[in-house]
Amino acid sequence: MTDPTEMRHKLRKFGQEHLLAFWEELDTPKSDALLEQLGNIDFEQLQSFIEQFVNNTPAPPVSADIVPPHVLPRKPADAEQSELYNRAKDRGNELLARGKVAACVVAGGQGTRLGFDGPKGCFQATPVAKKPLFQIFAEQIQAASNRAGKAIPWYIMTSRANDAQTKAFLRRNRHFGLDGDNVRCFCQGTMPAIGMDGKLLLESKGTLAASPDGHGGVLPALRQSGSLDDMSARGIELISYFQVDNPLVRCIDPLFIGLHDLNHSEMSAKALPKRDPMEKLGNFCIVNGKTSVIEYSDMPEELARRTNNQGFLKFSAGSIAIHILNRSFIERLTEGGRCGLPFHRAEKVVPHIDSAGQKVTPAEPNAIKLEMFIFDAMSLTDKTVILETRRNEEFSPIKNAQGLDSPVTSLHSQVRRAAGWLEAAGVELPLDADGQVAAAIEISPLFADSAEELAAKLDPGLTVTSGQQLYLGSRGQIGGTK
Ligand code: UTP
Repeated sequence: MTDPTEMRHKLRKFGQEHLLAFWEELDTPKSDALLEQLGNIDFEQLQSFIEQFVNNTPAPPVSADIVPPHVLPRKPADAEQSELYNRAKDRGNELLARGKVAACVVAGGQGTRLGFDGPKGCFQATPVAKKPLFQIFAEQIQAASNRAGKAIPWYIMTSRANDAQTKAFLRRNRHFGLDGDNVRCFCQGTMPAIGMDGKLLLESKGTLAASPDGHGGVLPALRQSGSLDDMSARGIELISYFQVDNPLVRCIDPLFIGLHDLNHSEMSAKALPKRDPMEKLGNFCIVNGKTSVIEYSDMPEELARRTNNQGFLKFSAGSIAIHILNRSFIERLTEGGRCGLPFHRAEKVVPHIDSAGQKVTPAEPNAIKLEMFIFDAMSLTDKTVILETRRNEEFSPIKNAQGLDSPVTSLHSQVRRAAGWLEAAGVELPLDADGQVAAAIEISPLFADSAEELAAKLDPGLTVTSGQQLYLGSRGQIGGTK
């Protein structure tokens, strides 16, 4: 524990002595906790961040040397690629059967746009059974483990604000059928919020205002929490990474795993063709010879709208935060306790206390939040694979309370995907006047995890009526309620 006098001295040196302004008013546990929080800050590094992100805010330079990346198509384009994809699927299944793959979800975000009271993974997201997001993933992992004949361990990144609630929720729900020994929560790091004047903010008299350090924080957190060692002890070599807000994600995809492995990739990504040039997805590019993701907000409009000689968008591949990473790659990046990912700045509203100890909730952004992004790791290796996927099949995130990327749009996407699988299996579906499916349909991953599996298992006599709430459940039975 740092000595308070020493800390006061250090804070004075860095112009942050206001952080101990209420020190005399704190009881011992609180003052100890504040001292510990302050002791965890690297003030030299913080000073350089203040210089870089608060005192100077240059627009990120966009290199002149930028070209579109190679993207593997969703469906093989020719016989040779068909053979590769078949081999990849087999390879993925083999790695799963040998217990080489873990799932990892990042669930430490604050979810401010959704405004849900609790960890986002507890949000009830499915159309009929109203399953929480965590359950969707747990069932997929269970189904994939059953197919592989080997348990797939699941690592869940939480943050200081939601760690205890997440663990309690998973325990209360008995890890949704998974063996608790194979579900491991680990907490990500935090970054202090920096006021626009370069001063750190106090959330209360004894606590700094801080927020999770971004989804890229998963890399140092996997190391610091001992999760990489745990993976190593279990023989895990590959990590299937996804985010907590996308109920359509395929948590475990043998084809993607196999393509990653056969190409000796260290970090792979799934991509979507962007809906329009300005869609708010990161853009896959090759910058100075390295696979990179340029955030939509950093991509000059002219570049985003540029077309190739066939008239298609030149930079059409959008990032949807689905990756495979080698454990050894993360070990290398996080060696010696530092992580090679850069920080990005965002201006945020951060409630805090003022110099009189009064609570303030500003109407306008008053602080800089610094976050690391997982996709920046792509540029730290030469070995990458990008695989295209279909939006309808794999991407419909729950970000906002209303409008685009909200619970409502996600419900529609889930029903549409389930309906598509049923139609492919030959089931006729009722449609409303707008041509939309006039029933709520949900397929448990434990019943079928793909159109092919559904077609193989489905009762050929299944009929769906208008207004029906149809749930295809775990034991192969078909439940239908009006
Ligand atoms: P978002 O970028 O959507 O951020 O996270 P968010 O914090 O969840 O939501 P807003 O911006 O406050 O509304 C994308 C994914 O990355 C995770 C989130 O939990 C989500 O799965 N994430 C984000 C973390 O795990 N940690 C972070 O620090 C940030």
